[in-house]
Amino acid sequence: MEVAGLRKAFGELEVLRGIDFSVARGEVVCVIGPSGSGKSTLLRCVNLLEEPSAGRVTVAGTEVTDPDVDIDRVRRRIGMVFQAFNLFPHLNALENLTIAQRRVLGRDRAEAERIARANLERVGLSDKAAAYPAQLSGGQQQRVAIARALSMDPELMLFDEPTSALDPELVGDVLAVMRALAQDGMTMLVVTHEMSFAREVADRVVFMDGGVIVEEGTPEQVVGAPQHERTRTFLARVLDPAAAEVGEVADSGAAGKRVDR
Ligand SMILES: Nc1ncnc2c1ncn2[C@@H]1O[C@H](COP(=O)(O)OP(=O)(O)OP(=O)(O)O)[C@@H](O)[C@H]1O
Ligand SMILES: [Mg+2]
Repeated sequence: MEVAGLRKAFGELEVLRGIDFSVARGEVVCVIGPSGSGKSTLLRCVNLLEEPSAGRVTVAGTEVTDPDVDIDRVRRRIGMVFQAFNLFPHLNALENLTIAQRRVLGRDRAEAERIARANLERVGLSDKAAAYPAQLSGGQQQRVAIARALSMDPELMLFDEPTSALDPELVGDVLAVMRALAQDGMTMLVVTHEMSFAREVADRVVFMDGGVIVEEGTPEQVVGAPQHERTRTFLARVLDPAAAEVGEVADSGAAGKRVDR
């Protein structure tokens, strides 16, 4: 995936002010940054849930921002997992995984179910195929949402704070699924406040503030030894809200802690 000169304004408000970066095949890139910095807007521009004001986005060789592009075809190749799970409440887990495979990809029921079951197993929920969303915990629903995205054979997975709506004890299972996906070679762009996940799993971390990329590099560089004051201030706040009050800055010791929001 490649983003070049990406800009997005809502009326007068410039939310993305020239974003350039790329994610190589099989790479995991985590995007961090304060609330309102444009992280979700960036992800939404990648699959054209928002139309960029300027710039180019290319995914797997197709220019998404080409006016003539078949956007449904592009979106099919991009899995998106949001903070809210957006499962169909009237369909059980298996049906939530098969419906788009059948309607969008035209798979027959047997094939769609075979793929769905394989992906439920992949997220550790093979015993929940018949369960309805209301019968599942938040963490289980999020894992169903991940399995649903995987069932479409995505070339790129976008995650927008997939664990931030979850009770703390449910976060680990979802992160474990994401970690396994990364190890399997999935290309992933992940907006997250989970610094321990970013440090362990990300190949690169991008820090955004005010609609620009302030710095990017390996987790050791960006989280462990940030070069910019804005990055240090943000990390101090995320890693230790109490310390930030008295103006302390995150050191590499503090950066290993789990983050609660
Ligand atoms: N559809 C919209 N119309 C107008 N303004 C919007 C719209 N979507 C986002 N914004 C504004 O764009 C800015 C960036 O929003 P965005 O959701 O991308 O931030 P974020 O970095 O994801 O923040 P958070 O960490 O809180 O999720 C915010 O000021 C927001 O109010
Ligand atoms: Mg957001």
